[in-house]
Amino acid sequence: MAKTKSAYFCQSCGYESAKWLGKCPSCNEWNTFVEEVIDKGSANIPTWKSASGTQRLSKPSKVEEIQSATEERTSTGDLELDRVLGGGLIAGSVILIGGEPGIGKSTLMLQLALNVTGKKVLYVSGEESEQQIKMRAERITANPKADCYILTETSTQNIFKQIEQLEPEIVIVDSIQTLHSSHIESTPGSVSQVRECTAELLRFAKETNTPVFLIGHITKDGAIAGPKILEHMVDTVLQFEGDRHHIYRILRSIKNRFGAASELGIYAMQSNGLREVSNPSEILLSQRDEELSGITIGATLEGARPMLIETQALVSIAAYGTPQRSATGFDTKRMNMLLAVLEKRCGFRLSAKDVFLNIAGGIKVEDPAIDLSIMAAIISSHEDIFISSKICFAAEVGLSGEIRAVNRIEQRISEAEKLGFEKIFISNYNLKGLNKDKFKIQIVTVSKIEEVFSLLFG
Ligand code: TYD
Ligand code: MG
Repeated sequence: MAKTKSAYFCQSCGYESAKWLGKCPSCNEWNTFVEEVIDKGSANIPTWKSASGTQRLSKPSKVEEIQSATEERTSTGDLELDRVLGGGLIAGSVILIGGEPGIGKSTLMLQLALNVTGKKVLYVSGEESEQQIKMRAERITANPKADCYILTETSTQNIFKQIEQLEPEIVIVDSIQTLHSSHIESTPGSVSQVRECTAELLRFAKETNTPVFLIGHITKDGAIAGPKILEHMVDTVLQFEGDRHHIYRILRSIKNRFGAASELGIYAMQSNGLREVSNPSEILLSQRDEELSGITIGATLEGARPMLIETQALVSIAAYGTPQRSATGFDTKRMNMLLAVLEKRCGFRLSAKDVFLNIAGGIKVEDPAIDLSIMAAIISSHEDIFISSKICFAAEVGLSGEIRAVNRIEQRISEAEKLGFEKIFISNYNLKGLNKDKFKIQIVTVSKIEEVFSLLFG
C-alpha cells in the first residue's frame, strides 16, 4: 500500500506546514493547525481530467497569434445578477457566493436554475434532500421552459460522473464546504478538502467552458470559510448580505475578473422567492409626511449605479459619563473623524454628546460622497432644525473641513433630478467640465463645511 502523506494546515488562512505549529506564521492566529491527509497515494482515482480521457498539452503562443474571443455573455434571467456579474454569465467562469446562513443563497441559486432559458442546469446539493429542494422550488415562480436537474451528492468523483452523462450547461454547487474528494482524506469543510474540491471544479469549468456557481459558508467575522486562496482561485466572488429581519438583500461583487467589482444588486425576499428591486432609491428613501430633524439624503454611487440613501442621526446629551458613538451601515472610525471636524472647524460642542448614526434600509455605504450628508444630519439633529426632504448632498469632507470633489457627479445629479429633488449640494471642485445648464435641479457649490451650514441654517 502506498504511503499516506499528511501536512498541517492553518484552519484560518490555509498556511501549510510540515510540522505542527502553535502560532501561524502567516496570519498570526494561535492554535489553528490541524493535521490533514493530503494524498492517499492512490493515483488511479479518476479526477475530472482523467475521467474525460484527454490531457491537453499547453504550448506557449505569441500574443498576436492568439485569437481574441469576444467574450460572450449569457443572461441568467435575473437582471440584478446579470449586472453584478458585469453584464451576464461568461462561459467557463467560476463564481463563489458567500453569505450568512438563512440569508437566501440557496433560494437565489435555485431561482436562477428555474429561470434561465434554454440552458440545462444541474443543481448539486449536499445540504438538503430532493424533497426539501422540491418544496422550495414550489414556492418560487419558475419559467415553464426551465431545464433543471437536482442531484444530492457530496463526492466530487460521483458528481463528475453524473455531469459526464447529463452534460449540463450550468452547474450550481450548494455548498463547497459539504463536498469531499477521495484524493484527500480530511473531513469535508477542512482547508485541504475545500481547496481540492474547488480546484477540481475549476479544472472542469475551464476545460468544458461550463460556468460553475459555488455557494460558500462564511465564518463568524464575515469572511468566506476556508482558505483565503479560495477567493484567489475563482473568477468572481459575490457576497449576499442583508439583515435577516428586513426583507431587503444585497448582492455585492467583491472580486470580478470579468467586470467591475463593487457592483450591487438589490432583492426583496418575499413569500414566493426573491424579487429584483430595479429602482433602489424608492425603497431607501422613507416616505415621511412631516419634517423631522436629523434626516438627510446623500447621493451615493454603488458600483455603477447611483442611489439616494437616507442617513439618520440622533445627537443627545450623554446621560452617562462617556458619550456613546455608534453607527450602523457606516464606518464608526470615519464618523468619529467627521465629528472631530465639526468640533474643531465649526465649533459645535459634540464631545459630551451621544451620537447615533443609521443608514436606512440596512445598507452599508463605503462611498465617501455620503460624508456631507452625514455631517448635515448630525448638525440637524444637534440643532434640532429640519432639512427639507427636497435637498440632497454629494461630497466628501476632508480633515480641514474642505468639501472635496467626488467621481461621476453628473450621474448623481441626474438621479437626484429624476427622483424630484430640488437642490443638491456639491463641491466647487466638481464644477470643472460640468454643464450646469443641462440640469433643472438647483446645484449649490460649496468649498468649506461652514458655508454649507450657513446656507442650510442661516
Ligand atoms: P435559504 O436560501 O435557505 O438561505 P441560505 O441558503 O443562504 O442558508 O433562505 C432561507 C430563508 O428564506 C428562510 O428564512 C425562508 C426564506 N424564504 C422566503 O422568505 N421566501 C421564499 O420563497 C423562500 C424560498 C425562502
Ligand atoms: Mg442554503
